[in-house]
Amino acid sequence: MGRRSCAICAVGIICSSLLIVGIGLIVTQVFRTMMHNRLKKEIVLVEGSRVFESWRRPPPPVYMELFFFNMTNVDAFLAGAKPQVTQVGPYTYRQYRYRANVSMVENGTKVSAYNTKSFVFLRERSVGDPSEDSITTVNIPAWAVMNKLKDSFWKASMMSVWMNSIGSGLFTTRTVNELVWGYEDPVLIFGLMAKKNGTSNGEFVYHTGQQNYLDFGRVVTWKGQSQLTFWTSNQSNSINGSDSAFHPLLDKNERIYIFTPDLCRSIYMEFEKDVDVKGIPAYRFTPPRSVLASKEENPANEGFCVSPQECLGTGLLKVSPCRKGAPVVASFPHFYLADEKYVAAIEGMSPEREHHQTFLDINPTTGVIVRANKRAQVNILINRISGFVKTRTLNETIIPVMFINESVVIDDASVARVQKLLLIVNVVSNFPLIIVALGGIMLAVFIILLVRARKQKTTSEDETSYTPVSGKEKEDPQNGTYIGLTPKVDAQA
Ligand SMILES: *[C@@H]1O[C@H](CO)[C@@H](O)[C@H](O)[C@H]1NC(C)=O
Ligand SMILES: *[C@@H]1O[C@H](CO)[C@@H](O)[C@H](O)[C@H]1NC(C)=O
Ligand SMILES: *[C@@H]1O[C@H](CO)[C@@H](O)[C@H](O)[C@H]1NC(C)=O
Ligand SMILES: *[C@@H]1O[C@H](CO)[C@@H](O)[C@H](O)[C@H]1NC(C)=O
Ligand SMILES: *[C@@H]1O[C@H](CO)[C@@H](O)[C@H](O)[C@H]1NC(C)=O
Ligand SMILES: *[C@@H]1O[C@H](CO)[C@@H](O)[C@H](O)[C@H]1NC(C)=O
Repeated sequence: MGRRSCAICAVGIICSSLLIVGIGLIVTQVFRTMMHNRLKKEIVLVEGSRVFESWRRPPPPVYMELFFFNMTNVDAFLAGAKPQVTQVGPYTYRQYRYRANVSMVENGTKVSAYNTKSFVFLRERSVGDPSEDSITTVNIPAWAVMNKLKDSFWKASMMSVWMNSIGSGLFTTRTVNELVWGYEDPVLIFGLMAKKNGTSNGEFVYHTGQQNYLDFGRVVTWKGQSQLTFWTSNQSNSINGSDSAFHPLLDKNERIYIFTPDLCRSIYMEFEKDVDVKGIPAYRFTPPRSVLASKEENPANEGFCVSPQECLGTGLLKVSPCRKGAPVVASFPHFYLADEKYVAAIEGMSPEREHHQTFLDINPTTGVIVRANKRAQVNILINRISGFVKTRTLNETIIPVMFINESVVIDDASVARVQKLLLIVNVVSNFPLIIVALGGIMLAVFIILLVRARKQKTTSEDETSYTPVSGKEKEDPQNGTYIGLTPKVDAQA
Protein backbone atom coordinates (compact mmCIF):
# COMPACT_ATOMS: atom_id res chain seq x y z
CA MET A 1 0.00 0.00 0.00
CA GLY A 2 2.75 2.45 0.97
CA ARG A 3 4.91 1.59 -2.01
CA ARG A 4 1.92 1.98 -4.27
CA SER A 5 0.91 5.43 -3.09
CA CYS A 6 4.54 6.44 -3.46
CA ALA A 7 4.46 5.37 -7.13
CA ILE A 8 1.22 7.27 -7.66
CA CYS A 9 2.80 10.26 -6.00
CA ALA A 10 5.87 10.09 -8.28
CA VAL A 11 3.72 9.80 -11.39
CA GLY A 12 1.74 12.83 -10.23
CA ILE A 13 4.90 14.87 -9.68
CA ILE A 14 6.41 13.91 -13.04
CA CYS A 15 3.16 14.62 -14.84
CA SER A 16 2.65 18.00 -13.24
CA SER A 17 6.25 19.09 -13.82
CA LEU A 18 6.07 18.00 -17.49
CA LEU A 19 2.84 19.92 -17.89
CA ILE A 20 4.20 23.03 -16.18
CA VAL A 21 7.49 22.99 -18.12
CA GLY A 22 5.75 22.24 -21.42
CA ILE A 23 3.11 24.91 -21.04
CA GLY A 24 5.76 27.35 -19.86
CA LEU A 25 7.82 26.66 -23.00
CA ILE A 26 4.76 27.04 -25.21
CA VAL A 27 3.85 30.36 -23.61
CA THR A 28 7.38 31.77 -23.79
CA GLN A 29 7.96 30.31 -27.31
CA VAL A 30 11.60 29.62 -26.46
CA PHE A 31 12.05 26.89 -29.07
CA ARG A 32 10.24 28.76 -31.81
CA THR A 33 12.37 31.85 -31.20
CA MET A 34 15.49 29.72 -31.12
CA MET A 35 14.60 28.12 -34.47
CA HIS A 36 13.75 31.46 -36.02
CA ASN A 37 17.06 32.93 -34.92
CA ARG A 38 18.77 29.94 -36.44
CA LEU A 39 16.97 30.52 -39.77
CA LYS A 40 17.88 34.22 -39.73
CA LYS A 41 21.49 33.28 -39.18
CA GLU A 42 21.67 30.51 -41.77
CA ILE A 43 19.78 32.12 -44.62
CA VAL A 44 22.50 34.51 -45.72
CA LEU A 45 24.38 34.98 -48.97
CA VAL A 46 27.73 33.73 -47.73
CA GLU A 47 29.94 31.07 -49.27
CA GLY A 48 28.95 27.71 -47.81
CA SER A 49 25.57 28.81 -46.46
CA ARG A 50 22.39 26.84 -47.01
CA VAL A 51 21.18 29.06 -49.82
CA PHE A 52 24.32 30.36 -51.49
CA GLU A 53 24.77 27.73 -54.19
CA SER A 54 21.14 27.80 -55.29
CA TRP A 55 21.29 31.59 -55.33
CA ARG A 56 24.36 31.51 -57.53
CA ARG A 57 23.00 28.86 -59.90
CA PRO A 58 19.24 28.54 -59.42
CA PRO A 59 18.46 24.87 -60.11
CA PRO A 60 14.78 25.04 -61.20
CA PRO A 61 14.27 25.43 -64.95
CA VAL A 62 12.90 28.77 -66.11
CA TYR A 63 10.74 28.79 -69.24
CA MET A 64 10.11 31.91 -71.20
CA GLU A 65 7.16 31.94 -73.57
CA LEU A 66 6.80 34.75 -76.08
CA PHE A 67 3.44 35.67 -77.58
CA PHE A 68 3.14 38.15 -80.44
CA PHE A 69 0.24 40.28 -81.59
CA ASN A 70 -0.03 39.94 -85.35
CA MET A 71 -1.78 43.00 -86.70
CA THR A 72 -4.27 41.97 -89.35
CA ASN A 73 -5.77 45.25 -90.59
CA VAL A 74 -2.92 47.71 -91.08
CA ASP A 75 -4.40 49.44 -94.13
CA ALA A 76 -7.84 49.76 -92.57
CA PHE A 77 -6.27 51.06 -89.35
CA LEU A 78 -4.34 53.75 -91.24
CA ALA A 79 -7.68 54.71 -92.81
CA GLY A 80 -9.27 55.13 -89.37
CA ALA A 81 -10.45 51.68 -88.26
CA LYS A 82 -9.90 50.09 -84.88
CA PRO A 83 -6.65 48.04 -84.82
CA GLN A 84 -7.16 44.29 -84.97
CA VAL A 85 -4.63 41.81 -83.60
CA THR A 86 -4.41 38.04 -83.22
CA GLN A 87 -2.22 36.42 -80.62
CA VAL A 88 0.49 34.13 -82.00
CA GLY A 89 2.52 31.89 -79.72
CA PRO A 90 4.05 30.56 -77.62
CA TYR A 91 7.60 30.58 -78.84
CA THR A 92 9.29 28.99 -75.86
CA TYR A 93 12.85 29.34 -74.62
CA ARG A 94 14.54 27.68 -71.72
CA GLN A 95 16.44 30.28 -69.71
CA TYR A 96 19.75 29.40 -68.11
CA ARG A 97 20.53 31.79 -65.28
CA TYR A 98 23.63 32.11 -63.22
CA ARG A 99 25.46 34.82 -61.37
CA ALA A 100 28.91 35.53 -62.70
CA ASN A 101 31.91 37.10 -60.97
CA VAL A 102 30.39 36.70 -57.52
CA SER A 103 32.54 38.37 -54.90
CA MET A 104 32.09 39.43 -51.31
CA VAL A 105 32.50 43.13 -50.63
CA GLU A 106 32.66 45.28 -47.51
CA ASN A 107 33.80 42.58 -45.12
CA GLY A 108 31.26 40.09 -46.34
CA THR A 109 28.22 42.21 -45.51
CA LYS A 110 27.50 42.61 -49.22
CA VAL A 111 27.97 40.54 -52.33
CA SER A 112 28.50 41.66 -55.89
CA ALA A 113 27.40 39.70 -58.96
CA TYR A 114 26.51 39.88 -62.65
CA ASN A 115 23.22 38.14 -63.43
CA THR A 116 23.66 36.29 -66.68
CA LYS A 117 20.91 34.70 -68.76
CA SER A 118 21.07 32.64 -71.90
CA PHE A 119 18.21 31.32 -73.97
CA VAL A 120 17.76 28.06 -75.82
CA PHE A 121 14.79 27.68 -78.14
CA LEU A 122 12.48 24.71 -77.52
CA ARG A 123 10.76 23.75 -80.76
CA GLU A 124 8.49 21.11 -79.18
CA ARG A 125 6.98 23.65 -76.79
CA SER A 126 6.42 26.25 -79.52
CA VAL A 127 3.77 26.81 -82.18
CA GLY A 128 6.14 27.29 -85.06
CA ASP A 129 9.59 28.05 -86.39
CA PRO A 130 10.71 31.52 -85.29
CA SER A 131 12.95 31.90 -88.32
CA GLU A 132 9.97 31.46 -90.65
CA ASP A 133 6.85 32.73 -88.92
CA SER A 134 6.27 36.35 -89.74
CA ILE A 135 4.50 38.96 -87.66
CA THR A 136 3.07 42.27 -88.77
CA THR A 137 3.48 44.95 -86.15
CA VAL A 138 4.56 48.50 -85.44
CA ASN A 139 7.86 49.47 -87.09
CA ILE A 140 9.54 50.13 -83.77
CA PRO A 141 12.88 51.56 -85.00
CA ALA A 142 11.06 53.98 -87.29
CA TRP A 143 8.86 55.17 -84.41
CA ALA A 144 11.90 55.52 -82.17
CA VAL A 145 13.60 57.77 -84.70
CA MET A 146 10.42 59.74 -85.42
CA ASN A 147 9.96 60.41 -81.72
CA LYS A 148 13.52 61.63 -81.43
CA LEU A 149 13.04 64.15 -84.20
CA LYS A 150 9.55 65.36 -83.31
CA ASP A 151 10.77 68.62 -81.79
CA SER A 152 12.51 69.76 -84.95
CA PHE A 153 10.12 70.19 -87.87
CA TRP A 154 12.91 70.47 -90.49
CA LYS A 155 14.81 67.41 -89.41
CA ALA A 156 11.51 65.55 -89.16
CA SER A 157 10.49 66.53 -92.69
CA MET A 158 13.84 65.49 -94.13
CA MET A 159 13.69 62.21 -92.28
CA SER A 160 10.14 61.69 -93.52
CA VAL A 161 11.23 62.15 -97.13
CA TRP A 162 14.16 59.76 -96.68
CA MET A 163 12.00 57.12 -94.98
CA ASN A 164 9.49 57.33 -97.81
CA SER A 165 12.24 56.94 -100.40
CA ILE A 166 13.54 53.73 -98.80
CA GLY A 167 10.01 52.42 -98.28
CA SER A 168 10.15 52.40 -94.47
CA GLY A 169 6.55 52.43 -93.28
CA LEU A 170 4.79 52.83 -89.94
CA PHE A 171 4.25 49.08 -89.76
CA THR A 172 6.50 46.24 -90.78
CA THR A 173 6.44 42.48 -91.24
CA ARG A 174 9.35 40.59 -89.72
CA THR A 175 10.09 37.05 -88.58
CA VAL A 176 9.90 36.22 -84.89
CA ASN A 177 13.67 35.79 -84.75
CA GLU A 178 14.24 39.20 -86.29
CA LEU A 179 11.86 40.89 -83.86
CA VAL A 180 13.34 39.20 -80.83
CA TRP A 181 17.05 38.83 -81.55
CA GLY A 182 17.52 41.81 -83.82
CA TYR A 183 17.63 42.89 -87.44
CA GLU A 184 19.23 45.68 -89.33
CA ASP A 185 16.61 48.21 -90.21
CA PRO A 186 17.64 50.97 -92.68
CA VAL A 187 17.20 53.35 -89.73
CA LEU A 188 18.86 51.42 -86.92
CA ILE A 189 19.57 47.96 -85.56
CA PHE A 190 16.69 46.74 -83.48
CA GLY A 191 15.54 43.67 -81.55
CA LEU A 192 13.30 43.33 -78.50
CA MET A 193 15.97 41.22 -76.81
CA ALA A 194 18.96 41.99 -79.00
CA LYS A 195 22.30 41.23 -77.33
CA LYS A 196 20.52 39.71 -74.31
CA ASN A 197 21.68 36.13 -74.97
CA GLY A 198 24.52 35.16 -72.65
CA THR A 199 24.99 38.65 -71.27
CA SER A 200 24.23 40.32 -67.96
CA ASN A 201 22.39 43.51 -67.19
CA GLY A 202 25.16 45.12 -65.18
CA GLU A 203 26.68 44.74 -61.77
CA PHE A 204 24.40 44.22 -58.80
CA VAL A 205 25.47 44.56 -55.18
CA TYR A 206 23.23 42.82 -52.64
CA HIS A 207 22.98 42.73 -48.87
CA THR A 208 23.94 39.28 -47.63
CA GLY A 209 21.45 39.50 -44.77
CA GLN A 210 24.15 38.93 -42.15
CA GLN A 211 23.49 42.21 -40.38
CA ASN A 212 19.71 42.08 -40.63
CA TYR A 213 17.74 39.16 -42.01
CA LEU A 214 15.15 41.56 -43.45
CA ASP A 215 17.87 42.80 -45.83
CA PHE A 216 18.61 39.33 -47.25
CA GLY A 217 19.06 39.66 -51.01
CA ARG A 218 18.13 43.33 -51.08
CA VAL A 219 19.75 45.30 -53.88
CA VAL A 220 22.17 47.97 -52.66
CA THR A 221 23.41 49.28 -56.00
CA TRP A 222 22.87 48.56 -59.67
CA LYS A 223 25.61 49.54 -62.11
CA GLY A 224 27.26 51.36 -59.22
CA GLN A 225 24.23 53.54 -58.48
CA SER A 226 21.99 53.41 -55.41
CA GLN A 227 19.35 55.55 -57.15
CA LEU A 228 17.99 55.51 -60.70
CA THR A 229 17.98 58.64 -62.83
CA PHE A 230 15.14 57.85 -65.25
CA TRP A 231 12.26 59.30 -63.28
CA THR A 232 11.35 62.61 -61.70
CA SER A 233 10.93 61.85 -57.99
CA ASN A 234 13.22 60.33 -55.42
CA GLN A 235 10.61 57.77 -54.57
CA SER A 236 10.28 56.63 -58.19
CA ASN A 237 14.03 56.55 -58.60
CA SER A 238 14.74 54.48 -55.52
CA ILE A 239 16.08 50.96 -55.95
CA ASN A 240 13.88 49.04 -53.56
CA GLY A 241 13.85 45.41 -52.66
CA SER A 242 15.34 42.32 -54.10
CA ASP A 243 15.48 40.84 -57.57
CA SER A 244 14.85 37.20 -56.72
CA ALA A 245 15.70 36.33 -53.11
CA PHE A 246 13.38 36.92 -50.20
CA HIS A 247 14.03 36.96 -46.49
CA PRO A 248 12.82 34.12 -44.27
CA LEU A 249 9.88 34.48 -41.84
CA LEU A 250 7.74 36.36 -44.28
CA ASP A 251 4.57 38.01 -43.02
CA LYS A 252 1.24 38.19 -44.82
CA ASN A 253 0.95 41.89 -44.11
CA GLU A 254 4.26 42.68 -45.70
CA ARG A 255 4.66 44.46 -48.99
CA ILE A 256 7.47 42.84 -50.85
CA TYR A 257 9.53 45.04 -53.12
CA ILE A 258 11.20 43.89 -56.29
CA PHE A 259 13.62 45.82 -58.42
CA THR A 260 13.27 44.94 -62.10
CA PRO A 261 15.78 46.45 -64.54
CA ASP A 262 13.41 45.45 -67.39
CA LEU A 263 10.87 47.98 -66.15
CA CYS A 264 13.61 50.34 -64.95
CA ARG A 265 11.86 50.64 -61.59
CA SER A 266 10.96 48.92 -58.35
CA ILE A 267 7.51 47.45 -57.96
CA TYR A 268 5.75 45.92 -55.00
CA MET A 269 3.56 42.91 -54.41
CA GLU A 270 0.95 42.15 -51.79
CA PHE A 271 -0.42 38.96 -50.27
CA GLU A 272 -3.26 37.43 -52.24
CA LYS A 273 -3.87 33.92 -50.91
CA ASP A 274 -2.38 30.77 -49.41
CA VAL A 275 -1.28 28.16 -51.94
CA ASP A 276 0.45 24.80 -51.90
CA VAL A 277 3.15 23.88 -54.40
CA LYS A 278 4.39 20.26 -54.45
CA GLY A 279 3.40 19.95 -50.80
CA ILE A 280 5.15 23.12 -49.66
CA PRO A 281 2.88 25.79 -48.17
CA ALA A 282 3.33 29.22 -49.72
CA TYR A 283 1.95 32.73 -49.78
CA ARG A 284 1.00 34.13 -53.16
CA PHE A 285 2.14 37.70 -53.66
CA THR A 286 1.00 39.70 -56.65
CA PRO A 287 1.29 43.32 -57.80
CA PRO A 288 -1.92 45.20 -56.98
CA ARG A 289 -3.53 47.63 -59.41
CA SER A 290 -2.02 50.58 -57.50
CA VAL A 291 1.50 49.70 -58.72
CA LEU A 292 0.74 50.87 -62.26
CA ALA A 293 -2.13 53.21 -61.39
CA SER A 294 -2.35 56.65 -62.94
CA LYS A 295 -1.18 59.57 -60.86
CA GLU A 296 -4.79 60.59 -60.21
CA GLU A 297 -5.55 57.16 -58.77
CA ASN A 298 -2.27 56.83 -56.89
CA PRO A 299 -0.39 60.12 -56.35
CA ALA A 300 2.76 58.18 -55.39
CA ASN A 301 3.13 57.31 -59.09
CA GLU A 302 3.46 60.91 -60.21
CA GLY A 303 7.24 60.51 -60.50
CA PHE A 304 6.83 57.93 -63.29
CA CYS A 305 5.06 60.45 -65.45
CA VAL A 306 8.04 62.11 -67.03
CA SER A 307 6.33 65.01 -68.73
CA PRO A 308 2.87 66.15 -67.62
CA GLN A 309 1.33 66.20 -71.12
CA GLU A 310 2.43 62.61 -71.73
CA CYS A 311 0.93 60.94 -68.66
CA LEU A 312 -0.85 57.69 -69.39
CA GLY A 313 -3.75 56.06 -67.58
CA THR A 314 -3.88 53.20 -65.12
CA GLY A 315 -2.12 49.99 -66.05
CA LEU A 316 0.60 51.44 -68.25
CA LEU A 317 4.17 52.51 -67.65
CA LYS A 318 5.94 54.53 -70.29
CA VAL A 319 9.51 53.27 -70.16
CA SER A 320 10.96 55.54 -72.85
CA PRO A 321 13.41 57.22 -70.41
CA CYS A 322 15.29 53.92 -70.22
CA ARG A 323 14.74 52.90 -73.86
CA LYS A 324 16.66 55.75 -75.43
CA GLY A 325 13.45 57.71 -75.95
CA ALA A 326 11.64 55.01 -77.96
CA PRO A 327 7.88 55.19 -77.26
CA VAL A 328 7.80 51.85 -75.43
CA VAL A 329 5.01 51.26 -72.93
CA ALA A 330 5.00 48.37 -70.47
CA SER A 331 1.83 46.77 -69.11
CA PHE A 332 0.53 43.43 -68.00
CA PRO A 333 -0.53 41.13 -70.88
CA HIS A 334 -3.79 42.07 -72.62
CA PHE A 335 -3.84 45.23 -70.48
CA TYR A 336 -4.75 43.19 -67.40
CA LEU A 337 -5.45 45.59 -64.47
CA ALA A 338 -5.43 48.53 -66.86
CA ASP A 339 -8.05 51.11 -67.68
CA GLU A 340 -10.86 49.59 -69.72
CA LYS A 341 -10.34 52.12 -72.53
CA TYR A 342 -7.00 50.54 -73.51
CA VAL A 343 -8.59 47.10 -73.73
CA ALA A 344 -11.51 48.46 -75.75
CA ALA A 345 -9.24 50.32 -78.19
CA ILE A 346 -7.79 47.10 -79.61
CA GLU A 347 -9.74 44.29 -81.23
CA GLY A 348 -8.43 41.02 -79.79
CA MET A 349 -7.66 41.85 -76.15
CA SER A 350 -9.14 39.68 -73.40
CA PRO A 351 -7.44 40.16 -70.03
CA GLU A 352 -7.80 37.28 -67.59
CA ARG A 353 -6.27 36.98 -64.18
CA GLU A 354 -5.43 33.32 -64.57
CA HIS A 355 -3.35 33.84 -67.70
CA HIS A 356 -2.06 37.36 -67.34
CA GLN A 357 -1.35 37.89 -63.66
CA THR A 358 2.20 38.16 -62.34
CA PHE A 359 2.78 36.37 -59.05
CA LEU A 360 5.33 34.92 -56.68
CA ASP A 361 4.59 31.94 -54.43
CA ILE A 362 6.98 32.11 -51.50
CA ASN A 363 7.34 29.67 -48.63
CA PRO A 364 6.98 32.05 -45.67
CA THR A 365 9.27 30.18 -43.28
CA THR A 366 12.32 29.92 -45.53
CA GLY A 367 11.68 32.70 -48.06
CA VAL A 368 12.21 30.18 -50.88
CA ILE A 369 10.36 30.87 -54.14
CA VAL A 370 8.38 27.74 -54.95
CA ARG A 371 6.64 29.02 -58.06
CA ALA A 372 6.64 32.27 -59.99
CA ASN A 373 5.14 33.73 -63.13
CA LYS A 374 6.34 37.00 -64.53
CA ARG A 375 4.12 38.33 -67.27
CA ALA A 376 4.67 41.58 -69.03
CA GLN A 377 3.68 43.13 -72.32
CA VAL A 378 5.59 45.45 -74.62
CA ASN A 379 3.47 48.07 -76.37
CA ILE A 380 4.26 51.00 -78.60
CA LEU A 381 2.54 54.32 -78.27
CA ILE A 382 1.74 55.76 -81.66
CA ASN A 383 0.26 59.16 -82.40
CA ARG A 384 0.42 62.08 -84.77
CA ILE A 385 3.96 63.45 -85.14
CA SER A 386 4.38 66.77 -86.88
CA GLY A 387 6.56 66.56 -89.96
CA PHE A 388 5.62 62.97 -90.71
CA VAL A 389 2.75 63.12 -93.16
CA LYS A 390 1.85 59.44 -92.83
CA THR A 391 0.96 59.87 -89.17
CA ARG A 392 -1.58 62.65 -89.68
CA THR A 393 -4.62 60.36 -89.56
CA LEU A 394 -3.59 58.76 -86.27
CA ASN A 395 -4.91 59.35 -82.78
CA GLU A 396 -2.94 58.33 -79.73
CA THR A 397 -3.14 54.51 -79.54
CA ILE A 398 -1.25 51.93 -77.50
CA ILE A 399 -0.50 49.04 -79.85
CA PRO A 400 0.46 45.75 -78.16
CA VAL A 401 3.46 44.06 -79.75
CA MET A 402 4.45 41.10 -77.61
CA PHE A 403 4.07 39.60 -74.18
CA ILE A 404 6.32 37.41 -72.17
CA ASN A 405 5.31 34.59 -69.82
CA GLU A 406 8.25 33.58 -67.70
CA SER A 407 7.53 30.72 -65.35
CA VAL A 408 9.42 28.67 -62.85
CA VAL A 409 8.41 25.87 -60.49
CA ILE A 410 10.72 24.56 -57.79
CA ASP A 411 12.61 21.39 -58.79
CA ASP A 412 12.15 18.12 -56.88
CA ALA A 413 15.62 18.09 -55.32
CA SER A 414 14.99 21.54 -53.84
CA VAL A 415 11.52 20.42 -52.69
CA ALA A 416 13.15 17.61 -50.70
CA ARG A 417 15.63 20.03 -49.11
CA VAL A 418 12.99 22.60 -48.21
CA GLN A 419 10.70 19.93 -46.78
CA LYS A 420 13.48 18.55 -44.62
CA LEU A 421 14.22 22.02 -43.29
CA LEU A 422 10.53 22.69 -42.64
CA LEU A 423 10.25 19.39 -40.78
CA ILE A 424 13.16 20.30 -38.51
CA VAL A 425 11.68 23.73 -37.89
CA ASN A 426 8.29 22.21 -37.08
CA VAL A 427 9.60 19.50 -34.80
CA VAL A 428 11.87 21.84 -32.87
CA SER A 429 9.28 24.61 -32.66
CA ASN A 430 6.70 22.12 -31.43
CA PHE A 431 9.01 20.34 -29.00
CA PRO A 432 7.15 21.84 -26.00
CA LEU A 433 3.96 20.24 -27.31
CA ILE A 434 5.70 16.87 -27.12
CA ILE A 435 6.52 17.56 -23.47
CA VAL A 436 2.91 18.55 -22.82
CA ALA A 437 1.76 15.38 -24.59
CA LEU A 438 4.01 13.26 -22.39
CA GLY A 439 2.60 15.13 -19.40
CA GLY A 440 -0.90 14.36 -20.67
CA ILE A 441 -0.13 10.65 -20.98
CA MET A 442 1.33 10.66 -17.47
CA LEU A 443 -1.78 12.44 -16.26
CA ALA A 444 -3.92 9.68 -17.73
CA VAL A 445 -1.76 7.02 -16.07
CA PHE A 446 -1.90 8.96 -12.82
CA ILE A 447 -5.68 9.12 -12.89
CA ILE A 448 -6.07 5.45 -13.76
CA LEU A 449 -3.78 4.53 -10.87
CA LEU A 450 -5.73 6.83 -8.57
CA VAL A 451 -9.09 5.40 -9.59
CA ARG A 452 -7.83 1.84 -9.12
CA ALA A 453 -6.48 2.66 -5.68
CA ARG A 454 -9.79 4.19 -4.67
CA LYS A 455 -11.74 1.21 -6.04
CA GLN A 456 -9.67 -1.19 -4.01
CA LYS A 457 -10.33 0.95 -0.98
CA THR A 458 -14.11 1.19 -1.61
CA THR A 459 -14.59 -2.55 -2.31
CA SER A 460 -12.81 -3.37 0.92
CA GLU A 461 -15.02 -0.94 2.85
CA ASP A 462 -18.23 -1.84 0.89
CA GLU A 463 -19.01 1.82 0.44
CA THR A 464 -20.92 3.00 -2.70
CA SER A 465 -21.37 6.71 -2.07
CA TYR A 466 -18.09 7.36 -4.00
CA THR A 467 -19.66 6.53 -7.38
CA PRO A 468 -20.31 10.12 -8.48
CA VAL A 469 -16.69 10.97 -7.76
CA SER A 470 -15.29 8.17 -9.90
CA GLY A 471 -17.85 9.16 -12.55
CA LYS A 472 -16.40 12.63 -12.55
CA GLU A 473 -12.90 11.28 -12.71
CA LYS A 474 -13.84 9.31 -15.77
CA GLU A 475 -13.87 12.56 -17.74
CA ASP A 476 -10.25 13.21 -16.92
CA PRO A 477 -8.68 10.41 -18.97
CA GLN A 478 -10.46 11.85 -21.98
CA ASN A 479 -8.97 15.18 -21.10
CA GLY A 480 -5.60 13.51 -20.99
CA THR A 481 -5.94 11.95 -24.42
CA TYR A 482 -7.17 15.24 -25.79
CA ILE A 483 -4.00 16.96 -24.65
CA GLY A 484 -2.01 13.98 -25.89
CA LEU A 485 -3.44 14.44 -29.36
CA THR A 486 -2.70 18.13 -29.68
CA PRO A 487 0.88 17.87 -30.94
CA LYS A 488 -0.10 15.49 -33.71
CA VAL A 489 -2.85 17.78 -34.90
CA ASP A 490 -0.52 20.75 -34.73
CA ALA A 491 2.27 19.04 -36.58
CA GLN A 492 -0.05 18.19 -39.41
CA ALA A 493 -1.51 21.69 -39.65
C1 LIG B 1 0.17 37.22 -89.39
O1 LIG B 1 -0.84 37.73 -90.21
C2 LIG B 1 -0.58 37.65 -91.59
C3 LIG B 1 -1.75 38.25 -92.33
O2 LIG B 1 -2.12 39.47 -91.80
C4 LIG B 1 -0.39 36.20 -92.02
O3 LIG B 1 -0.02 36.15 -93.38
C5 LIG B 1 0.72 35.60 -91.18
O4 LIG B 1 0.84 34.22 -91.49
C6 LIG B 1 0.40 35.76 -89.69
N1 LIG B 1 1.53 35.25 -88.94
C7 LIG B 1 1.44 34.18 -88.14
C8 LIG B 1 2.68 33.75 -87.47
O5 LIG B 1 0.39 33.57 -87.98
C1 LIG C 1 -9.46 60.83 -83.54
O1 LIG C 1 -10.10 61.54 -82.49
C2 LIG C 1 -11.06 62.48 -82.97
C3 LIG C 1 -11.59 63.27 -81.78
O2 LIG C 1 -11.48 62.54 -80.60
C4 LIG C 1 -12.18 61.74 -83.71
O3 LIG C 1 -13.11 62.66 -84.19
C5 LIG C 1 -11.57 60.98 -84.87
O4 LIG C 1 -12.56 60.20 -85.52
C6 LIG C 1 -10.46 60.07 -84.40
N1 LIG C 1 -9.79 59.49 -85.55
C7 LIG C 1 -9.48 58.21 -85.63
C8 LIG C 1 -8.74 57.79 -86.84
O5 LIG C 1 -9.78 57.42 -84.76
C1 LIG D 1 34.05 38.66 -64.95
O1 LIG D 1 35.41 38.94 -64.75
C2 LIG D 1 36.20 38.67 -65.89
C3 LIG D 1 37.65 38.89 -65.53
O2 LIG D 1 37.78 39.73 -64.45
C4 LIG D 1 35.77 39.58 -67.03
O3 LIG D 1 36.53 39.31 -68.18
C5 LIG D 1 34.30 39.31 -67.32
O4 LIG D 1 33.85 40.21 -68.32
C6 LIG D 1 33.47 39.50 -66.08
N1 LIG D 1 32.11 39.07 -66.34
C7 LIG D 1 31.11 39.90 -66.35
C8 LIG D 1 29.77 39.31 -66.62
O5 LIG D 1 31.25 41.09 -66.15
C1 LIG E 1 36.35 45.34 -42.00
O1 LIG E 1 36.69 44.70 -40.77
C2 LIG E 1 37.90 45.22 -40.18
C3 LIG E 1 38.23 44.39 -38.97
O2 LIG E 1 37.09 43.86 -38.38
C4 LIG E 1 37.68 46.70 -39.84
O3 LIG E 1 38.87 47.24 -39.29
C5 LIG E 1 37.31 47.45 -41.11
O4 LIG E 1 37.02 48.80 -40.80
C6 LIG E 1 36.11 46.83 -41.77
N1 LIG E 1 35.86 47.47 -43.05
C7 LIG E 1 34.65 47.84 -43.47
C8 LIG E 1 34.58 48.43 -44.81
O5 LIG E 1 33.67 47.68 -42.77
C1 LIG F 1 22.12 31.70 -77.03
O1 LIG F 1 23.48 31.32 -76.92
C2 LIG F 1 23.70 29.93 -76.78
C3 LIG F 1 25.18 29.69 -76.66
O2 LIG F 1 25.79 30.63 -75.89
C4 LIG F 1 23.13 29.18 -77.96
O3 LIG F 1 23.27 27.78 -77.76
C5 LIG F 1 21.69 29.53 -78.13
O4 LIG F 1 21.16 28.93 -79.29
C6 LIG F 1 21.49 31.03 -78.23
N1 LIG F 1 20.09 31.31 -78.27
C7 LIG F 1 19.53 32.03 -79.22
C8 LIG F 1 18.08 32.23 -79.12
O5 LIG F 1 20.17 32.52 -80.12
C1 LIG G 1 2.42 30.74 -68.91
O1 LIG G 1 3.18 29.63 -68.50
C2 LIG G 1 2.54 28.79 -67.56
C3 LIG G 1 3.52 27.72 -67.16
O2 LIG G 1 4.14 27.14 -68.27
C4 LIG G 1 1.28 28.21 -68.19
O3 LIG G 1 0.63 27.41 -67.23
C5 LIG G 1 0.38 29.34 -68.62
O4 LIG G 1 -0.74 28.84 -69.28
C6 LIG G 1 1.11 30.30 -69.52
N1 LIG G 1 0.31 31.47 -69.77
C7 LIG G 1 -0.16 31.76 -70.96
C8 LIG G 1 -0.88 33.04 -71.12
O5 LIG G 1 0.03 31.02 -71.89
